[in-house]
Amino acid sequence: MALWSGRTGDTPLSAEVKRFLKAADAELLPYDCEGTRIHAERLRSAGILTDAELDEVDVALKRIAKQGVAATSDQDEDVHSSIERLLGEVGRKIHAGRSRNDQVATAFRLYVAAACQEGLAAIDALAAAVLDRAEREAETVMPGFTHLQRAQPVTLGHHLLAWVEMLERDRNRFLLAEGHAAPVPLGAGALAGSTLELPAPDNQVPNSLDAVADRDFALDYLYGAAGLFVHLSRIAEELVLWVTAEFDFARLPETAATGSSMMPQKLNPDVAELVRGKAGSAIGRLAGLLSTIKGLPLAYNLDLQEDKQPVFAARRDVSHALGALEVLIRDLEFNHERLAEAASDPMLLATDEAERLVAQGQPFREAHEQVAGQVRGGTLAPSAEAAESIASRQAPGPGSTAAAVASARERLQRRRATTSGTTR
Ligand code: ARG
Repeated sequence: MALWSGRTGDTPLSAEVKRFLKAADAELLPYDCEGTRIHAERLRSAGILTDAELDEVDVALKRIAKQGVAATSDQDEDVHSSIERLLGEVGRKIHAGRSRNDQVATAFRLYVAAACQEGLAAIDALAAAVLDRAEREAETVMPGFTHLQRAQPVTLGHHLLAWVEMLERDRNRFLLAEGHAAPVPLGAGALAGSTLELPAPDNQVPNSLDAVADRDFALDYLYGAAGLFVHLSRIAEELVLWVTAEFDFARLPETAATGSSMMPQKLNPDVAELVRGKAGSAIGRLAGLLSTIKGLPLAYNLDLQEDKQPVFAARRDVSHALGALEVLIRDLEFNHERLAEAASDPMLLATDEAERLVAQGQPFREAHEQVAGQVRGGTLAPSAEAAESIASRQAPGPGSTAAAVASARERLQRRRATTSGTTR
């Protein structure tokens, strides 16, 4: 029976309409149980539930959360209807002073906060894997690129540390989203609160209309996921290039390479390609929810039921992509010979030559012209080697890769020390 069946007559809702309106939100179930627990506590404080009834609710909610999706039914309009039905007799009291509008906003915020925590842990794990590789490759010389043209020598460790910095910013975006998801909408009711005098939950959203209409926390999460995927996609693109015969900077490991159904010789960087592909979906989800929300009058509108699917999908992709990429990066085999050969291109030291002339007092523009002339005439003979050149370009350049690895590792360890012992 619908939660609102008292309002309608005896004619049942059409099957087509019912099918269309049904929410695909079962994944929210444990979080809605958590939110319902907070609300039940408020009802007990106000004397609407007895201590015994609260205990009963508590036990039932734990059981329902454990059963998960299996507890829901096709007949339920949404996960909130499922939970109220599953609570049985005491469920008939639970909705006092609450609407599905503040209920869903509460559960969804809890869900998004958990998704952020999961994302943070997975980002840290990938960053740790990249850092391990950077440490081992701190002295490995390779060409650095601009415009995908060989530019100046760097170390492979330095390049990998750039990825670590990108991931550090991704982590910050998830942290922000987690903080934005924290306030609790309960107490807002359908849109304007309730006459029942229930205590405010901790960290209550201050305005009832905003409490039920706001989905910025979900947008922030989707932005975090989109930003992360844009970075993962850039990393993936480099990996795709590096494992080509043309670059040959690295070889795909068997743990993360796939073959061709037709061409016996092929090994494909499917993980990297799918990560790159998923970036498109991640961006689309953010654009989609922004568009869903943009014209909505306050307060709640059922358009907002469209907010969950993109977030569920983003959470799954973030976790699965980070996990797979971690394996690929952990097991990738770098081709040191080829990297050294590419880095020995004397052209990479043309800038060093010009700077040597500047150190001797020449204006830079004149030095640039002089060295460019040598490049054109094929007479450039740099006086240094790539390794020397690197050593003379200190932080933020590649000259102190070992020290940069150490400080990045310290940052990661400090974080692990402060987050251990939390629910994460
Ligand atoms: N299933 C709805 C959602 O996901 C819950 C809120 C429904 N509220 C309502 N008044 N129909 O947003």
